[in-house]
Amino acid sequence: SSTLAAEIRPFIRDLPDYPSSGITFRDITPLLADPTAFSRTIEGLAGLVPDDTDFIAGMEARGFMFGAALAHHLGIGFVPIRKAGKLPPPVKSYTYDLEYGQATVELRDGTVPEGSRVVLLDDVLATGGTAQAGAALLEHNGAQVTDLIFVMELDGLGGRKVLEGRAVSALLAV
Ligand code: PRP
Ligand code: MG
Repeated sequence: SSTLAAEIRPFIRDLPDYPSSGITFRDITPLLADPTAFSRTIEGLAGLVPDDTDFIAGMEARGFMFGAALAHHLGIGFVPIRKAGKLPPPVKSYTYDLEYGQATVELRDGTVPEGSRVVLLDDVLATGGTAQAGAALLEHNGAQVTDLIFVMELDGLGGRKVLEGRAVSALLAV
């Protein structure tokens, strides 16, 4: 709700021109450090998860911070989607294009049973590349990705467009 968004917003610190000129970094450290704000965030995210969800999947690294807490809160399993080279084989990989260069995300084989209903979580939706890659990787491994959920979405970066056709929600827009 807009009340929750207003409650959370003061705990996200804006750092202009970081990591490069014209980019505003959204620092979630204050949100994680405040027990009430963090707990309200997890409860808000829980409200975006369908009842029949089998797993919460989170994107390394900031998606882990909220994703594991959310899965625990819901009493369901957590699936980490990792950056390349962290998991022992066998893994499945998915490589996607960034503004400059490429990135690869990985999922360990056998983590998600065929047909599992998975909600993918990340802290921020920006261009949508990370979330799209995570969803595609899960689907290539037989999962059904029902929803993509975020703590915040950044307006004007095209993330919603990249994820068109998917169910996308965020607690707040910045
Ligand atoms: C950040 C953020 C999201 C992603 C959003 O992760 O946490 O995962 O970028 O951007 P996109 O929508 O344009 O793909 P990043 O990889 O920078 O770092 P992290 O390991 O701290 O999560
Ligand atoms: Mg991230």
